[in-house]
Amino acid sequence: MKILFTFLWICSVARATMYPDDHFDFVTEIKDRDQLNELVNQAIKKSQTLLVRWVSDPDHADCLRQAPTWNRAVRAFADNKKVVFGDINLSEADTLKGAPHWPSQYGWPTIRYFNRETGVDGADYVQKTNQKMHDELRDFDVMVDYIEKAGNTVLCDLNGKHCNKMEKDYIKLVKKKSLDELILLRKRLYAMDVNLLVKDIQEWNLRRRRILTKLVKQKEIKETGKSTTGNEL
Ligand SMILES: *[C@@H]1O[C@H](CO)[C@@H](O)[C@H](O)[C@H]1NC(C)=O
Repeated sequence: MKILFTFLWICSVARATMYPDDHFDFVTEIKDRDQLNELVNQAIKKSQTLLVRWVSDPDHADCLRQAPTWNRAVRAFADNKKVVFGDINLSEADTLKGAPHWPSQYGWPTIRYFNRETGVDGADYVQKTNQKMHDELRDFDVMVDYIEKAGNTVLCDLNGKHCNKMEKDYIKLVKKKSLDELILLRKRLYAMDVNLLVKDIQEWNLRRRRILTKLVKQKEIKETGKSTTGNEL
């Protein structure tokens, strides 16, 4: 009995994380091919990139495992006008199975982007490691790097571009620190398990990590001529 309850509890937690309550405030739910094509064309008109996640029918463990990272990334880019996001539940979107996007051909979830260069065919996700795709994409930095590259944008750069007020203040504060202090700060942040933090703090932790990685990189290059920080994968 206890095992059954534990199992049900895990399922309900997992269900809750695929689409958080406010997820569709940031993301368009795509139900069919016409809607997808229309969204792509809208994005092209506005010089935006549309990123789309397909989840499987029925809910697949790999999708559930990767979901928190996609969900956090989508939320983090909510104010960035260069990128927009869509979500497809294949159980409710028959016309989005098969050609030309072949969701699941590289595993679950399937993530593609669409913009002026790719048109309605979109582009495949190209892996950076030999991990399983969903494991690779569970890393927030990998997910955000991908969105930045596809969308030709940044979440927040050291000059303040696209940064929120907290990030701008944080950059000002940490810029004065020495390389050793920055490395230590960065190490501490990366040692935290974000899943154990409350939601708003999670995003703040992940945003600071990226700022510190960029700053450490910048200082290392300035002081030693090279840097491998941020290439740990
Ligand atoms: C996808 O749609 C099916 C059918 O409506 C539903 O049972 C399932 O819970 C949905 N998946 C998610 C993650 O919402």
